[in-house]
Amino acid sequence: MSAVPALEWMDGWVDVGTVADIPRLGARVVASAIGNIALFRTAEDEIFALEDRCPHKGGPLSQGIVHGKGVSCPLHNWVIELETGEACAPDHGCTRTIDVLRQGERILLRVPRP
Ligand code: FES
Repeated sequence: MSAVPALEWMDGWVDVGTVADIPRLGARVVASAIGNIALFRTAEDEIFALEDRCPHKGGPLSQGIVHGKGVSCPLHNWVIELETGEACAPDHGCTRTIDVLRQGERILLRVPRP
């Protein structure tokens, strides 16, 4: 996993690199004005972005295990849905999702206002 330089806040889409920059079944962290954003890549090369903060006690989801369209938090093993940011039952909570757009192999994020 590697981090890229902090992004300036922009009201729009920000190019954060390519699909190949994210390990398959892994994650990459992008620093932003709202904190770290975790970019996840599934086995099918789908890309999802969530705040890098577990809804339980703030664990770094980017360091979790990606499986299917979910990630298991490295701290207490809650499973978070990558599409919605919701914790899977029986746990409750939600991590903020970040809009992702793919243009070919390039990945764009819409970083929300702080
Ligand atoms: S902080 Fe993620 S499961 Fe506890």
